[in-house]
Amino acid sequence: MAPFKTEKVGIVGSGLIGRSWAMLFASVGYQVTIFDIIPQQVADALADIKVQLKTLEKDGLLRGHLNADQQFQCIKGSTNLAEAMKDAIFVQECVPEDLNLKKKVFQDLDKVVNDKTIMSSSTSTTLPSLFSEGLKHKSQIIVSHPVNPPYYVPLVEIVPAPWTKPEVAKKTREIMEEIGQQPVSLSREVDGFVLNRIQYAILNEAWRLVADGIVDVKDIDKVMSEGLGMRYAFLGSLETAHLNAEGMKSYIERYGETIYSVSNTFGPIPRMTKSNAAESICQQLNQMVPLDKLQERRAWRDACLTRLSLLKKEMNQKYKQ
Ligand code: NAI
Repeated sequence: MAPFKTEKVGIVGSGLIGRSWAMLFASVGYQVTIFDIIPQQVADALADIKVQLKTLEKDGLLRGHLNADQQFQCIKGSTNLAEAMKDAIFVQECVPEDLNLKKKVFQDLDKVVNDKTIMSSSTSTTLPSLFSEGLKHKSQIIVSHPVNPPYYVPLVEIVPAPWTKPEVAKKTREIMEEIGQQPVSLSREVDGFVLNRIQYAILNEAWRLVADGIVDVKDIDKVMSEGLGMRYAFLGSLETAHLNAEGMKSYIERYGETIYSVSNTFGPIPRMTKSNAAESICQQLNQMVPLDKLQERRAWRDACLTRLSLLKKEMNQKYKQ
């Protein structure tokens, strides 16, 4: 296998997520160009990526078959959008989460890409139809929503706009698989995509249970970290159910009605901005992790995710049928 590819990939925005995408594409040898409107950001991104790749290599965590120097050779910076995106097969937009900014960036991209370039957005909340309507190349636009930190959490939600060509969704999925991510494909756009809909359902019930005085913040979070989350790192909720009885049919027979009647007691959707419980929940969290210790705790979280991703890789290699 040739170590380097000839195909070009463009990254728009060189913040946290843009840098991660650049490293993921370079890990399999794509020729990556990072564009940012702030020239210093591009320089900082390149310097940071070089350090990150070297550290990953030293720690045995570098992805792909190329060494850190080879991967770094695949990445360059640019402050000229047209030049950076010229002939790219894939462009990943990573600018801040602001609809007007996304619209502007995709309008600019629309003028410089060719009829084959896939234009993909990292947005975590914006429906692709909202920033692609009216564009000449709107059928080439899709969302590829990563999870932070993408180098260790491989999920990518692929979300088409109503006018996205099916082959664009298919090719995006193939590219995500090729760079070692784990794509899921939505058949159509839906508010919150899938990950956030599930995350919000959990967050809402956690909020209700604390607001109703059933458990405190520490204990509700323990339910995830020491209970459900242990399984969910490896199995989804449906397969968990399948294994918790003699198959899903038996699970439905045994638990279906109980789940329905408990779910009927959930109550209205909490509105955090107007909830009386907000002050106490914030206070309890600030006690658990004081605001000046957030960075330390994030570093701990990322270290845990790194170890977990290695464990998952090992278990998949050993036991995947
Ligand atoms: P960030 O704020 O770290 O970086 C944004 C970059 O875009 C900055 O370097 C900025 O200079 C640049 N930029 C601003 N306007 C630009 C323009 N017109 N053209 C080119 N570059 C421009 O943002 P971050 O965290 O990397 O997020 C990027 C996107 O990824 C957002 O849509 C966000 O919702 C999404 N996302 C973020 C995650 C996270 O945890 N940070 C997780 C999943 C998705």
